[in-house]
This record gives sequence, structure tokens and C-alpha cells, in this order.
Amino acid sequence: MARKKITMIGGGQIGGNLALLAAQKELGDVVIFDIPRAEGMVKGKALDLMQLRPHDGHDSNITGTSDWNDVKGTDVFIITAGIPRKPGMDREDLLGINLGIMKDVATNIKEQAPNAFVIVISNPLDAMVYAFYKVSGFPKNQVVGMAGALDSGRFRTFIAMETGYSVQDVTCMVLGGHGDTMVPVTRLATVGGVPVTDLISAERLKEIEDRTRVAGGEIVKLFGNGSAFYAPAQSAIEMAESFIRDKKRVIPCASLCEGEFDVNGYFIGVPTVIGASGVEKVLEFSLTDEEKAGLNKTLDAVKKTVAETEL
Ligand code: APR
Repeated sequence: MARKKITMIGGGQIGGNLALLAAQKELGDVVIFDIPRAEGMVKGKALDLMQLRPHDGHDSNITGTSDWNDVKGTDVFIITAGIPRKPGMDREDLLGINLGIMKDVATNIKEQAPNAFVIVISNPLDAMVYAFYKVSGFPKNQVVGMAGALDSGRFRTFIAMETGYSVQDVTCMVLGGHGDTMVPVTRLATVGGVPVTDLISAERLKEIEDRTRVAGGEIVKLFGNGSAFYAPAQSAIEMAESFIRDKKRVIPCASLCEGEFDVNGYFIGVPTVIGASGVEKVLEFSLTDEEKAGLNKTLDAVKKTVAETEL
């Protein structure tokens, strides 16, 4: 079987880690694309990653480029192009700059690889994935946003830290937008099948939910310059791997809803099946009144940032 081609658009903090993880998992040959000003940086990262291979034993090829022609034939794009947050900024503050970048990226991807599966990471995520979808005109199964995987991973981490049990056995999901209105569905969270509500007090669970909602900001504050990159990269790789290996993983992703959870025409975090056809299905389930109210609130926030794109 021919190797897949997986291209990172943006070779900064997340892009560099994406390239490393994709190569180590042998998802395919890896291209790191960035603007001409950063061409040396991505060519350098690619060479460095090539020279890591003898110690690691994988055979993926990694190249860096700022020429759109080099991304032709890509099977999966992961987009991190744009600027990250600084302390005091919320994700919405990035809209002005990152929207222009996303329009440029969508136009070029459409030209070079119209059948590719596209995972968007750039923030504000809910608006960026929508902008990519609108500008590219891609079918909805080919476009998805990475947010819920990361937010759920953060929720799982905090539950594991609280209980002291393996993070591997913690399952849970976070619905809605990638902002402070996201909805951690604590009711369904378990550790090895045991409801977390039986393991952690209601009061502590509330604190864990609150920390999850602002977990990205907690890291932005610590860094002082830039935002999280290891966990965002790994979360997107999980999605790319499910597509490439047709695993049909069920991952909370920003997917286009057309009636699911009473959401129409917006990308919002929902449990999503990712397989060889890309976004194969959104899994619906009944929500409590409180969860419904939470989802409506997060939908209002998503609608607001999407309206600002004027697309
Ligand atoms: N095409 C391709 N790459 C671009 C473009 C463009 N038009 N414009 C900017 N870039 C590149 C920058 O040159 C930089 O190398 O995007 C890269 C972004 O990398 P970082 O600044 O290190 O940011 P990172 O931490 O990787 O986050 C990227 O993901 O999570 C979000 O909020 C985060 O929007 C931010 C994005």
C-alpha cells in the first residue's frame, strides 16, 4: 500500500510536534508547510526530524516547504496556521488575524488537494473550522475541528489527578464550543466504568469542570507567550490516525451539525465517528435539561464568533 501523505499547515509549536508524532506513528510521509518567512525554520525542523529516525526506527520521510505545489496529493491536512494567544486574550481575540490566514489556506488546499480530509486546530476554533468549510466548499465529512478531544483529555487528566487512578481508565466527554462555555458531561464520566459521581464529591467535580473550561488559559498564563502545544498535537493525531487506519474511533470533535442536538449549520463539539470517509457520523444521545441549557449557551457563543467571520 502506498504511503499516505500528511501535511501540517503551520510549522510552529503545534505543527512541529504534529510532524514528530505523525512520523513516529508512521501515519505516512510528512510535509511541514509554512509561509516563506518561516521556510528555513520548517526545512530545519524537517531535517532534524529526519535525523531522529535512526534512534527511533521509523521510516516516514519529513520535508519542509513554503511552496503550495508541494502539498499536492495530500491525504490529511492538519491546520495550525495563525497566531496563538497571549495572556489576557481569549480565543476570540485572534479572529481578525487568523480569519485572513484561514481564507488563504482554504483557497490553496482546495486547489492542491480537493479530496483531502482536513483537521482544523487554529483558534478561535469554532469560527476557523466554519471559515475553512465555507471558503473551501468541501463536503462536511471532509472537515472537522479539533477541540473536544483536547478538552475531554483535560477533563480526564484532572479526574485522574484527583482520584490517583490511571488516566487510561477515565472516560468522559466535553460538548460544545472550544471556549469557556464548553459543557463537560460529568454525568457520563467514569473511571473504569464506575461513575465519577460515586468517586468524587459534587463540590470537587464542580471545581474540576471549571478548571477544564479554562485549562487552555491556565497554560497561556504560565507560558506568558504562546499556548499549549503537546496535548493539542496528540489530540489531533488521534483523529488523523482514526481516519488513516479507518478505526472508527468515537471522539468529541467540532463537526457540522445539521439537526443533531437541535443544532443547524454550525460546527460544534459532539461525539463523532472518524473513519476512512472522514466524519462518518455524529452520535446523538439524550441530554438532561441542564445539559441542554449548557449546550444552548455554548451555541450562542459559537454563533456570535461565526457571525463575526461574515461568511
Ligand atoms: N500559512 C501557513 N502557515 C502560517 C500562515 C499561513 N498563511 N500564517 C502563519 N503561519 C504559521 C506561522 O508562521 C507559525 O509558524 O503558523 C505557525 C503558528 O505557529 P505558532 O505561532 O507556534 O502557534 P501554535 O502554538 O502552533 O498555535 C497555532 O493553534 O491552538 C491554536 O491558538 C492556537 O491559533 C493558534 C494555532
